[in-house]
Amino acid sequence: MIEDILPVEVASAEAFDDDRGADLFAEERAAIAGAVQTRRREFTTVRQCARAALRELGIPPVPLPPGPGRAPSWPAGVVGSMTHCTGYRAAAVARASRVHAVGIDAEPSAPLPDGVLEMIGLPKERALLERLRARDARVPWDRLLFSCKEAVYKVWFPLARRSLEFSGAEIAIDPGGTFSVRLLEPPPAVAGRPLTQVSGRWLHRDGLLLTAIAFR
Ligand SMILES: CC(C)(COP(=O)(O)OP(=O)(O)OC[C@H]1O[C@@H](n2cnc3c(N)ncnc32)[C@H](O)[C@@H]1OP(=O)(O)O)[C@@H](O)C(=O)NCCC(=O)NCCS
Repeated sequence: MIEDILPVEVASAEAFDDDRGADLFAEERAAIAGAVQTRRREFTTVRQCARAALRELGIPPVPLPPGPGRAPSWPAGVVGSMTHCTGYRAAAVARASRVHAVGIDAEPSAPLPDGVLEMIGLPKERALLERLRARDARVPWDRLLFSCKEAVYKVWFPLARRSLEFSGAEIAIDPGGTFSVRLLEPPPAVAGRPLTQVSGRWLHRDGLLLTAIAFR
């Protein structure tokens, strides 16, 4: 599914359940020691996905422990992103020579809990969601907005090396399956130019909402 919303330069792999026999590298095992079993399983499966995606780039299996800010540590010259939610895990990777950053996110297709939209949505975004809801009530647009923001964060953090508030990016969702992002915080420079605008794609299928940004 995630492949459908990523450009060809980005390799990806996904899983819909966990292989209970799968193992981790020692440094990964150390990073997850003490976590509950469900967390250990998603952490392990998404790393299997990441290693499968890296194999498509010709890169042999390597440890992928969490790095600064809990962002995954990719091999030199590689950018990527991982996501997991109930019933879904995915990873996407690309050569840094072709793509500056990748951010992917998966969410269950269900409205956000009460009160969350008020915390994460800007007034303009909330007005847009009203219009989208009137047009098509089958998509949980509030959850999709949240997912877009999570994908933005996964692109932002490895480039900026600092956190980004939910109010720091304004999302405009197009019902046709794309979204655009206006960054409102002082942006990092990418290839000598400020990162002020990025765009991504989204997919609503089989009980899941997926979002993906590949910043080229
Ligand atoms: C980091 C965050 C975006 C993860 O998203 P999530 O929906 O909770 O969880 P997902 O399963 O989709 O993604 C988790 C994966 O994201 C990756 N990740 C975690 N922190 C990251 C970071 N700082 N940068 C990039 N990727 C990160 C990791 O690979 C993690 O999986 P792992 O712990 O098994 O390695 C989220 O927890 C968070 O901190 N959000 C607050 C910041 C934010 O979203 N601001 C809005 C900006 S507009």
